[in-house]
Amino acid sequence: MNKIQILIVDYGSQYTLVIGRTLRELGVRSVILPPDKAEDWIKNNLPKAVILSGSNWSVHNEGAPELPKSLNVTGVKYPILGICYGMQLLAHKLNGLVERPLAHREYGPANAILNTNHPFFYGVSKKTQVWASHGDTVAKLPKGFISIATSGGIAAMSSKNNRVLGIQFHPEVVNTKEGKKILQNFLNISNCQKDWNPINLIHEIQKEVTGLVGKKNVILGVSGGVDSTTLAAVLAPIFGKRLICIAIDTGGLRANELEELKTNTKSAGVKNLIIINTKKEFIKNIGTTIDGEEKRAKFRKVYQKIFKEQIKKYKAGFMVQGTLATDIIESGKAGKSAMIKTHHNVGLSWEVEDLHPFRNLFKYEVRELARALKLPKAIYERNPFPGPGLFLRIVGTSVSEENIKLVREADKTVANILKKYKLTKNISQLIVALLGINSVGVKGDERVYGHSLAIRAVQTADFMTAKGYYFPQEVVNEITNALTKHKNIVRVFFDMTPKPPATTEFE
Ligand code: XMP
Repeated sequence: MNKIQILIVDYGSQYTLVIGRTLRELGVRSVILPPDKAEDWIKNNLPKAVILSGSNWSVHNEGAPELPKSLNVTGVKYPILGICYGMQLLAHKLNGLVERPLAHREYGPANAILNTNHPFFYGVSKKTQVWASHGDTVAKLPKGFISIATSGGIAAMSSKNNRVLGIQFHPEVVNTKEGKKILQNFLNISNCQKDWNPINLIHEIQKEVTGLVGKKNVILGVSGGVDSTTLAAVLAPIFGKRLICIAIDTGGLRANELEELKTNTKSAGVKNLIIINTKKEFIKNIGTTIDGEEKRAKFRKVYQKIFKEQIKKYKAGFMVQGTLATDIIESGKAGKSAMIKTHHNVGLSWEVEDLHPFRNLFKYEVRELARALKLPKAIYERNPFPGPGLFLRIVGTSVSEENIKLVREADKTVANILKKYKLTKNISQLIVALLGINSVGVKGDERVYGHSLAIRAVQTADFMTAKGYYFPQEVVNEITNALTKHKNIVRVFFDMTPKPPATTEFE
């Protein structure tokens, strides 16, 4: 499968995800990483271009994020485009001057005059409406750079070789009328090829997997979620009954999850679905473990053992999984990126070869594949749910049958309230967790001493970063009332911490 062509270094701008989406609309795939992860990624991958995003930082602030150390800033290895803060950071690091002049602050629509003889602005109007949002500005260009656009001050800059570029306004935002044309020009300068076409990608994956698997049986771990169901739909037409889909009922599934799994795999055309009930084994092994990573390690051990048995039983030659680029990056398996958490299915070893056909894809891209495969909306719009399931949603206390039941019921209650208020579509993932924090409450004039629940909903496109979702007050009240009806639940906390610094899940 095609490698990711563009690295977008995320300095925290609200528009970073929009850069990725706009590039995909132009047919080119990219990866968005914070500066520290970008640092490692770039050591192990040679992108065709690098884009530095905007930010709410000023380059002069203490602790302002830096250029990745491994970034080659000459433009010789790959062209670089700095947008807003990205441009200021480039100018600052290359000994230009970044200032905060009162006269050249822009927030909102602005008019820019472009040098349309420069390849970055080919085919764009000389005078064009753009969207700007900045206090700082590049007052003096670094040596060897020229100004190629103005809007009051310098609005874009270019190195002599035209491969290191900076733009003060936001070409990724629709309010920049000809922004897409400008980004397309950058793709042309970078010699990027169109590589994002869901149907082609499906064919490519089918070809890649068939080439490796030959006539052997294949085992695919399915959870009923977007990734594994879509992968099943990609592979089912070529392998038929040789694709053995294994679903594990770990005991950590949400209410109705197994039924949804059966329906989803059926829509994906799966001919051979095996459901293994191992509830007791997982709970017995995880039991009193409190530490998140330890819990994951124990979960992985049982998970691996079950799959090893199935590989033997079905004489499978390959193990296929719907692991995404995000899972690999966060599990610390992409180059030397830091381990955030060990995903349940990344880096396990089997006696047979392990294939991850979606290893370069992000969730929103898999959703596109599912759409292209004409899978039901319930699949391509489905929110993710982690493999270790509700075990990860019992935090700071033991994973007992009773606690699982409590958190499962609470999850169902909150999900139904969100459905009632038609909020499900606004949210990328809902997390309802039982917190092992005991506190005092009063119910029916009596003192109670019990646990708390935490409710967290996030909005994100790729789960590398996420915004906490703020529920309307009436929804907060309804959720709190409904959950505190349980005799042991005293308090309900709402958690809107973004990722970073928090992760989506509590563990
Ligand atoms: P975090 O918590 O790392 O989660 O921000 C990002 C996304 O990954 C899901 N997640 C997992 N999915 N196995 C999975 O299949 C895992 O071990 C795992 N851990 C986290 C999480 O629910 C979110 O969607």
